Amino acid sequence: MIPIARPQMGEEEKQRVWEAMDSGMLAQGPRVAEFEDAFAAMVGVAHAVATSSGTTALHLALLGYDIGSGDEVITVPFTFIASANSILYTGARPVLVDVREDDFTIDVDLVESAITSRTKAIMPVSLYGQPADLPALAAIAERHGLAIVEDAAQSHGASIGSRRSGSWGAGAFSFYPTKNMTTGEGGMITTDDGELAGRMRLLREHGMKVRYHHDVLGYNFRMTDLAAAIGLAQLPKLAGFNDRRRAIAARYDAKLRGVITPTVRAGVTHVYHQYTIRVAGRDAFVERLAERGVGSAIYYPIPVHRQKPFAALGYDEQRYPVTERLAAQVLSIPVHPSLTDDEVATVVDAVNQTAVELGQLEAAAAG
Ligand SMILES: Cc1ncc(COP(=O)(O)O)c(C=O)c1O
Repeated sequence: MIPIARPQMGEEEKQRVWEAMDSGMLAQGPRVAEFEDAFAAMVGVAHAVATSSGTTALHLALLGYDIGSGDEVITVPFTFIASANSILYTGARPVLVDVREDDFTIDVDLVESAITSRTKAIMPVSLYGQPADLPALAAIAERHGLAIVEDAAQSHGASIGSRRSGSWGAGAFSFYPTKNMTTGEGGMITTDDGELAGRMRLLREHGMKVRYHHDVLGYNFRMTDLAAAIGLAQLPKLAGFNDRRRAIAARYDAKLRGVITPTVRAGVTHVYHQYTIRVAGRDAFVERLAERGVGSAIYYPIPVHRQKPFAALGYDEQRYPVTERLAAQVLSIPVHPSLTDDEVATVVDAVNQTAVELGQLEAAAAG
C-alpha cells in the first residue's frame, strides 16, 4: 500500500540526535536556540519561539496576546481540532466562520460581520499547505485592532508573493511526523513582535526569568534539544521536500480526471502538505483506492462545531454550508516527497480508474 505519509529520516538526523545525546543536554538547550534562529530566518521574521507541539504553539501565541476568558477569537470549523481547542484552553470563545469552496481557507468576506466588541484575534488556518488570504485578513485586523494568529501547522515554507506563511502577526507551526518537516513532536511560533516573543518565552518556562522566581502563571511548553536536533537536520531539506511535493501535485493536476482537483490562488506558493481532491461517493472511492494499493485519508470528516466538546457552545450548523459539503467530499491522496515516479503513476491510474467505475455506477443507478 502506498502510504498517505512517510517521514524522511536520514543520516543527518541520526547524527544530530546522537550528538545531542552525547552532549548531556536533553531538555531545552542550545540546539533549541539554534533551531529557533534558523527557522525565523526561513520564515523571514525576527523571532521564533519553539514549543512542545503545534497545539502548544497556538495556545502560547494566544496567551502571548493576553487572550482569555470573555474574549472571542475568529477561526474556521473546517480544520484540525487543535485550532479551536487552543482557543478554548484560554477560556476564550471560538467564533466560527465558514471557509471558501475553492481554496478551503477562511472566507474573508464573512469575517467582518463576525467581529464583536469581544473579538481579540483572527486565527486563519493555512490548510493543506496553502496560506489563507493573510494580506486581506491583516487589513481587517488592522482596522479593528485585532491580532492575527495564523495556524501555519501545515504550511512550512509556503508564501504569498515573496512573503512567507508565518510572517503576519504570529504564525504557529507543527512538526508532527506527517508534516512537511518534523521534529517527532514539536512546534514553533514566528513573529516580528519582540514584546510578544518575550512574553511567550516567559510563559513557556513557568513564568520564570530568574530561576525559581515566577512572575506570572506559566507553563512547560518547551521543546527538547533532541527534537531541535532533528529539526536542524530537517530544515535545510525543507525546500527540496516542498519542491518534490509541488512536482507531484503538478503531475496530479495534469493527469487526474473525474474528480475536483485543488485550486491555488494567484501569487501563492502552495506547499501541498496534502493534495486534496473532492469526490462523490467517498466511502466507495476510499475502498477502491485501497484495493488498488493506494492509501488515502480524510482531513477532516467532522467539522469543529459538530465535535462533542463544542456541542454545548451552541453553534448553528446551517451557518457552515461549505464546511459541511467539504467534510463530506474531501479526500487526500499521497503527495509526500518520498513517492517514486512509479508510485505517482500508480496513484494517477488508481484515481482515474476509480472515478470512471464509480461514475459508471452512478450513471447506472440514475438510469
Ligand atoms: C491545522 C492544524 N492545526 C494544529 C495542529 C496541531 O499540531 P500538533 O499535532 O503538533 O499539536 C495540526 C497538526 O496536527 C494541524 O494540522
